[in-house]
Amino acid sequence: MEKPEYAFIGRSNVGKSSLINMIVGRLSMAKISSTPGKTQLINHFEINALKKGEKGDYSWYITDLPGFGYAKVSRSDRVKWERTSKQFLEGRRNLMCIMMLVDSRLKPQKVDLEFMAYMGETGLPFVIVFTKVDKLNKIERETFYSNYKAEMLKQWHKIPPIFITSAETKEGRDELLNFFEQTNSLF
Ligand code: GTP
Ligand code: MG
Repeated sequence: MEKPEYAFIGRSNVGKSSLINMIVGRLSMAKISSTPGKTQLINHFEINALKKGEKGDYSWYITDLPGFGYAKVSRSDRVKWERTSKQFLEGRRNLMCIMMLVDSRLKPQKVDLEFMAYMGETGLPFVIVFTKVDKLNKIERETFYSNYKAEMLKQWHKIPPIFITSAETKEGRDELLNFFEQTNSLF
């Protein structure tokens, strides 16, 4: 727990594993699956370097939490997921930020908004990461972005930082790496 950590969270199939692979650039790092809910365990990855002079002694953690909010998951599994994830997030002293992934092809999802409300109430720092933006054209992107912000403003006074990403095109990678590097320096 002596290194800065970032937890990736979001609905099943949102693209968590793909985004982690895209950021880190090693296909063997996180499992990729097209079956929602396949990542059931909390997977930890130690990242060595990726910026700060690319030195081996610069290291930090990324954590891939199991996907949530998938309709086919049973109620008892959902309760189990919530308990495990919340316990994990609330107990990590080295947790710098939660990366809340949101699928840019879907309308704002109730489970996502509820989870953000929980993080806000609990005082857990988070940013929003839109995924799969390669699926949208320029107008669809802008519409999605402004709709999502409007939805957030119903619940929040201030909107957290938003990153726009695609694991396919690597859009947003530099911005995320800059964010990690800057935030790591606060550890
Ligand atoms: P679980 O571990 O099952 O909760 O899913 P996950 O959130 O880790 O999603 P995963 O990375 O396995 O991706 C789910 C599906 O979306 C796969 O079929 C990916 O190929 C696809 N996908 C992920 N990211 C992108 C993206 O940026 N663009 C496009 N077009 N497809 C993506
Ligand atoms: Mg996964």
